[in-house]
Amino acid sequence: MLRFLTGGESHGKCLVGILEGMVSNLDIDVEDINKELERRQKGYGRGERMNIEKDRVEILSGVRNGKTTGAPISILIENKDWENWKEYMDIKKIKEGKERHIPRPGHADLWGFLKYNYTDLRNVIERASARETAMRVAIGAICKKFLSEFNVKFYSRVKQIGNIKDEGDIEEVKRNYEIIENSPVRCIKKEKEMINEIDRVKEEGDTIGGIFEIIVEGVCPGLGNYVHWEKRLDAKISYILMSIPGIKGIEFGIGFEGSNLTGSKFHDEIFYKNKIYRKTNNSGGIEGGITNGEDIWIKCFFKPIPTIKKGLNSFDIRDFKEKKYEYERSDICAVVPASIIGENLVAFVFASEYIEKFGGDSLDDLKKNYHTYIERIRKFWF
Ligand SMILES: Cc1cc2nc3c(=O)[nH]c(=O)nc-3n(C[C@H](O)[C@H](O)[C@H](O)COP(=O)(O)O)c2cc1C
Repeated sequence: MLRFLTGGESHGKCLVGILEGMVSNLDIDVEDINKELERRQKGYGRGERMNIEKDRVEILSGVRNGKTTGAPISILIENKDWENWKEYMDIKKIKEGKERHIPRPGHADLWGFLKYNYTDLRNVIERASARETAMRVAIGAICKKFLSEFNVKFYSRVKQIGNIKDEGDIEEVKRNYEIIENSPVRCIKKEKEMINEIDRVKEEGDTIGGIFEIIVEGVCPGLGNYVHWEKRLDAKISYILMSIPGIKGIEFGIGFEGSNLTGSKFHDEIFYKNKIYRKTNNSGGIEGGITNGEDIWIKCFFKPIPTIKKGLNSFDIRDFKEKKYEYERSDICAVVPASIIGENLVAFVFASEYIEKFGGDSLDDLKKNYHTYIERIRKFWF
């Protein structure tokens, strides 16, 4: 079983993570992980924090001589901003000045405070922050590397910012991937309009959300399961994507648009010529909780960032007087990094599925099992 755990506060010394259950003999280049972290740090509309951080991983265990050993992989990412915060985040006694007492609507601030019986909302803010997702991307990057051994590829693009919608279907996403990778808003055609929209809301002291999509190509059929509720793959993917702070909706395939279609138009007919093929992928590559060999196609709605310069009404937890919260530097739009986090978390789910289905403690054994399976289903899929 593949699993991971993370620790660390937004302005603490570092983020730590442990990935357990990865097979042995997988080549690891720290620079591949750093590249994913760099992709996560990009995006038009991000706050000043990303100018301070330059995320890089240090691997502390589980990798030797450039290869995984099968032991838990321990990872560390330093927070550069720690230098500016160490007195306020000290584990013994903090310097005063960074306490917060007015909860931000849309955040865990108030509910974490009540739950844990704190006096300072800072304790919630520090751990609920999306800074933690940097570690999850590092873990996902190892999973991506594992999946590349089976020619599984990941794509993502920003489909919508506010009401500005990008054009092009998933085949166009793949064909135009260089454009997407080089765009500060990760879209094909509407870069200028999206940037203008982010600038416009920024000027108004506001924030904006949007929709991103993830496409996974080359996944074999038969991953996931229908026999138990928690083994359904669309359920597992939804769970991990919903765990990204700010994600509020997920669609597979054509998703909610499907409500306009009748069954005969919605379902993807099966054709056969030397192998199974489909003319449409409305289901998004998963039927009955199992992969069907088509591209996995997912869309996520990421809500507007809740820390808003012009402020929102709230109250002070000390005297119950209504007030607006104190503004702290913040992203205006984080749909771009959310899409990279999504890609890498979906990679974790697929890596788990490959390891569960094909077993073996080493990459070599697992690959043998994989090829035996692929040989068996060759008349259906290749
Ligand atoms: C990459 C990324 C960056 C984010 N940056 C900020 C930010 O700068 N300020 C903020 O208030 N929320 C930010 N958020 C969103 C909040 O973390 C999120 O809205 C909040 O945790 C509550 O969302 P939830 O109800 O979905 O958990 C960010 C989220 C992600 C994924």
